[in-house]
Amino acid sequence: MSELKYYFFHSEKRKIVPFQDETTNQLAKIKLDQIKVSEVFNSIPQKFKDNWLDVALYNPSGDLSKADALILNPEDGAYSLSNKINHLTGKHWTRFSKSWFVFDALQSDIKEEKAITSAAGLNSEDHPATYSPTMMMDFINFFTKEGEVVLDPFNGIGSTMVACDRTARRGVGIELNEKYYEITRLRTKQKVFHGSCENLKEILKKNSIEQVDFSISSPPYWNILQRSTGDFEKKRSKRNLDIKYSDKEIDLGNIDSYQEFIDRTADVYFQIYDALKPGGYLVVIVKNVKKGGVNYPLAWDLAKKLTEKYTLKDEKIWCQDQVALAPFGYPFAWTSNIVHHYCLIFRKELK
Ligand SMILES: C[S@@+](CC[C@H](N)C(=O)[O-])C[C@H]1O[C@@H](n2cnc3c(N)ncnc32)[C@H](O)[C@@H]1O
Repeated sequence: MSELKYYFFHSEKRKIVPFQDETTNQLAKIKLDQIKVSEVFNSIPQKFKDNWLDVALYNPSGDLSKADALILNPEDGAYSLSNKINHLTGKHWTRFSKSWFVFDALQSDIKEEKAITSAAGLNSEDHPATYSPTMMMDFINFFTKEGEVVLDPFNGIGSTMVACDRTARRGVGIELNEKYYEITRLRTKQKVFHGSCENLKEILKKNSIEQVDFSISSPPYWNILQRSTGDFEKKRSKRNLDIKYSDKEIDLGNIDSYQEFIDRTADVYFQIYDALKPGGYLVVIVKNVKKGGVNYPLAWDLAKKLTEKYTLKDEKIWCQDQVALAPFGYPFAWTSNIVHHYCLIFRKELK
């Protein structure tokens, strides 16, 4: 058997190992040749297509007749040919399913965006609240397959679009602030529109985008930038960096009324509902906030509102571990330093 190339793997003591029988491996090779010329081949991950000669079949209990998963590298787990949502193996799928994660901005991402924008005389740090393309990649890899369309209606400086570049997805972004839009144009060639996402329906229609497969975004956290601690404002003003997104009335970050903010933001996500494929997912990254000593459960209120159309599946909690803490409340009362965000996960159900 030392010369045998393995085309069939099974599970032994919770490990994926080659099946030690020559005839079964030869039969597996015939089955793989059939898959190569069948329709299902089109829908498998590119990595498997590119390395097809090294791909093997897999069934945990060693039953070749029931093998409907592929192995490229046993360490990465098996990819099910019935996978409807993404291109992940069971191992990577399970890893993402944890309901919380810790993520702090990656220096490599920051360096990359700074280098691209400063060469054009702009500064990516001007945007006061961005997230990282690396963090977005995990969500995009879970909720889409390669080539699918990802929409970010609150594009900012285009972190979601850069994540689309890195994962071979097609991005669509909308951003109100011209400078952030320009920064995005420097970072990516994905389809990004300068305008208000309150006109999302018209923007999609005008650009012949009929359906999107997934949407992920982070809206303004109400008008919270306007109550930012003096420290935040002082430090950023000193460096000549923006302390809010814009002065425009149509900027959702400038709405004073909490309820109006919830309603208008929800309306943007309801417009997305109409464009989202049936069975598609929507992720909204948002935080509960405090203002003038009052708690506003923004994430929970927005979640409740969006269930008028979507099904709320649940959330992944994003924890930041490198944010400087302030002695809020000390020495009289409990007040937290809020260093977690809710990545709310919704689905447009198949009817
Ligand atoms: C929390 S930031 C998103 C940052 C983005 N995720 C990134 O990493 O760059 C919210 C963005 O929404 C934009 N925005 C506010 N009102 C908008 C509107 N009506 N239409 C489109 N974008 C809007 C702001 O300019 C801001 O860039």
